Amino acid sequence: MKISPSILSADFCRLGADCRLVLDAGAQMLHYDVMDGHFVPNISFGVPVLKSLHQGLPEAFYDVHLMIDHPLDYAEPFAKAGATLLNFHLETKDDIQATLDKIRALGCKTGLTIKPGTPAEALSPWLDQLDLVLVMSVEPGFGGQKFQPQALEKLRWLRAEREKRGLDFMLEVDGGVDSATAPACVEAGADVLVAGSAIFGAADPAAAVRALAAL
Ligand code: DX5
Ligand code: ZN
Repeated sequence: MKISPSILSADFCRLGADCRLVLDAGAQMLHYDVMDGHFVPNISFGVPVLKSLHQGLPEAFYDVHLMIDHPLDYAEPFAKAGATLLNFHLETKDDIQATLDKIRALGCKTGLTIKPGTPAEALSPWLDQLDLVLVMSVEPGFGGQKFQPQALEKLRWLRAEREKRGLDFMLEVDGGVDSATAPACVEAGADVLVAGSAIFGAADPAAAVRALAAL
């Protein structure tokens, strides 16, 4: 199982050390949650923090989750700052095809995300262009929320659709994923587990990564 620790729950006073710790424990990605205060009612961090992390940890896979109104405008600065994959929302205000084209042209992998209220079927027209699909299992905006199990049905549908159409996107789930909820996500087809508070809120974050990775 691939693990993408959400650094939204890290200690920002020691962000580089926290990232190094989870990577050394076997995390394949770093999940970087960008919030603009418009698309979601919260503000997190942006381009300069990613740039610093990428300079300090250039080998890491930066799984950038853009919870912003205008991913088309910000794809380039995040790509230049070191994003490996740019993940944006189907519910965004920008044109989906133009944003996917821009992300590809910038040399990044593509990801599309759906909120809990959006059906998985709405992703259907885009699936053949995606490296990753992210199913949100909480309303985006905050870490530490309770897992919403309707995400499992979406993961199952997306896994079946991938099989039926011979596609190879990764399936990622984000929100409320911990040792209690992760096994059902794995069973439903998730390839990548995002976890914030379950990792950085644990007494031993490295052990938390290893436990999730072993599922
Ligand atoms: C929520 C973010 C998540 C969040 C997950 O808007 O997209 O990545 O950090 O946090 P936990 O794992 O604590 O639910
Ligand atoms: Zn996220």
